[in-house]
Amino acid sequence: MAKSLVDIATELEGCCRCALSETRTNLVFGVGNPTAEVMFIGEAPGKQEDLGAEPFIGAAGQYLNSLLALAGLKREDIYIANVLKCRPPENRDPLVDEIEACTPFLREQVKAINPEILVTLGNFATRFILKTDRGITGLRGQVHITGRFSVLPIFHPAAAIYDSNKKAIMEDDFRLLGRLIAQRRVERGSGQL
Ligand code: URA
Repeated sequence: MAKSLVDIATELEGCCRCALSETRTNLVFGVGNPTAEVMFIGEAPGKQEDLGAEPFIGAAGQYLNSLLALAGLKREDIYIANVLKCRPPENRDPLVDEIEACTPFLREQVKAINPEILVTLGNFATRFILKTDRGITGLRGQVHITGRFSVLPIFHPAAAIYDSNKKAIMEDDFRLLGRLIAQRRVERGSGQL
């Protein structure tokens, strides 16, 4: 049976399974609708998230919020968590041992929420969920099936902030997410057509 989000958060309290515990301000567990149809998975907390103990509340989060409407979503509809629960110093890439120590908890969060759709933001989340070494550029724009989940890899919002050529692609991918949500609702007989 799946653990509850409360139980998972309790297990993580005071976590020191990797060295990020020495530099973090707060552990950033995840936030949102505990029965969300759509769960977003990012990479790791940044500076604002480390201070505020909530994922995607900095610039990348503001941009993400602005895109959700293209998929017919509001921030309170979704659940959002990261591959790593603690901020890597200077926002460096997650290390293999950090990913290994932290992702059992992400896996439990996915089981607890049991979403229909996983949106993976950037390379680290996509590689973890799809168990692939392929990069996000070749994987985005298509729906992948893994187990009972539809997985939609999307560029990390921070990448589109730095490279404005990616913004139109991001918007297309959020419209695709909207169509995927509608399709899944029709398949389970709750579509509003
Ligand atoms: N980038 C992420 O991947 N996650 C956050 O929570 C914030 C920025």
